[in-house]
Amino acid sequence: MLLNNTPLSLYVHLPWCETQCPYCDFSITTDPVDGNDARLAEAIIKDIKHSSDLIADRKFRSIYFGGGTPSLASTQSIKQILDSVRDRLTPSETEITIEMNPNDVSEKKVEELLRAGINRVSLGIQSYIDQELQALGRNHDRKSAIQATNILKDINSTIDLIYGIEKQTPESFNENLETIIDSNVNHLSLYQLTIEPNTIFYKKELLLPHEEAIEEMEVIAKDLLEKNGFEQYEVSSWSKPGFESNHNLNYWQFGDFLGVGPGSHSKISNQQEIIRYRKIKPLEGYIQNQKSADLKTIAGNELDIDLAMNLLRIKNGLQQQDLTIDLPESFLKKYQRGVDEGLLLKDKIGASQKGYQFLNETIQLFF
Ligand SMILES: C[S@@+](CC[C@H](N)C(=O)[O-])C[C@H]1O[C@@H](n2cnc3c(N)ncnc32)[C@H](O)[C@@H]1O
Ligand code: SF4
Repeated sequence: MLLNNTPLSLYVHLPWCETQCPYCDFSITTDPVDGNDARLAEAIIKDIKHSSDLIADRKFRSIYFGGGTPSLASTQSIKQILDSVRDRLTPSETEITIEMNPNDVSEKKVEELLRAGINRVSLGIQSYIDQELQALGRNHDRKSAIQATNILKDINSTIDLIYGIEKQTPESFNENLETIIDSNVNHLSLYQLTIEPNTIFYKKELLLPHEEAIEEMEVIAKDLLEKNGFEQYEVSSWSKPGFESNHNLNYWQFGDFLGVGPGSHSKISNQQEIIRYRKIKPLEGYIQNQKSADLKTIAGNELDIDLAMNLLRIKNGLQQQDLTIDLPESFLKKYQRGVDEGLLLKDKIGASQKGYQFLNETIQLFF
């Protein structure tokens, strides 16, 4: 069923955070970085080495250092991890991204990271407005956000913004977008604030903007971003032509990814099957033991859902030649139902305008 040449990405999870943001449910630690940084890098390098059974001699199409706050790790650790996979890279072609928090961005740090092999920065701005940053419990302010954006102005970078923040208005959201447009950045991820269980926000009573204000923000984003050369290519992703995230596209196109670091997830396929697994979450546990947990084969109905949840996120659909998998019969049968109902495209794999507007409902077709 599977093609041999499924593209493969590497995700490196660096869990460091100075403080725990009250809305965040990612796998993080506020343990000290010093003393642990080098030990974690060593464990990650070991983990990649031991994964060669699964990935054979395949090359990485992209690498992503995510977190947590990878910019808290030493550049030496980032370089050591990259050096350990040099023979799996296609020089000058592999997109290598690192997430940075504004307080860690200095000309010196960015220069060091570029020298180590990083060629793309994902900057976690969230908002340029002090009141909104405080509402999110962030450890940076407007000044630091502007400074970081300026330092990165000539570097291939993307910015993360959150909307739907407590007391945020369509006007203040517009101001955030204007700042990004003026900054010359070529990629933007726009996330509506989600209140996740097991976070401080879940237990708090928040004065979040009402539904009409959220919709207004979405209309503002579409108008302003399109007017300024950005195109939405995925639910949360906007880019100028040619600057789409290679790494994230690989997830949505159902490519493979090797995840290393505490709590990371992997999806690897071979000729016979597709396997998903994860790594131990606690930092010390992972440093001691990088064995895989919860290994399972994805097939049947589960595979159909998995495919729908990824492929249909891509805004304008996928051509047959962009697919990394021969779609199973059961998926195609459900897909045809969606075409008949006007929710899915006929000539490509993707949602119609209506299907995209109600994406969660569209995905239900595959359950
Ligand atoms: C795991 S964070 C890591 C990036 C970096 N540590 C930071 O906080 O800027 C990746 C991105 O997910 C988004 N994010 C995290 N939790 C979210 C939530 N509850 N709702 C919406 N977006 C969220 C933020 O935009 C953040 O930049
Ligand atoms: S949002 Fe970023 S900085 Fe805040 S806790 Fe999550 S990963 Fe850490």
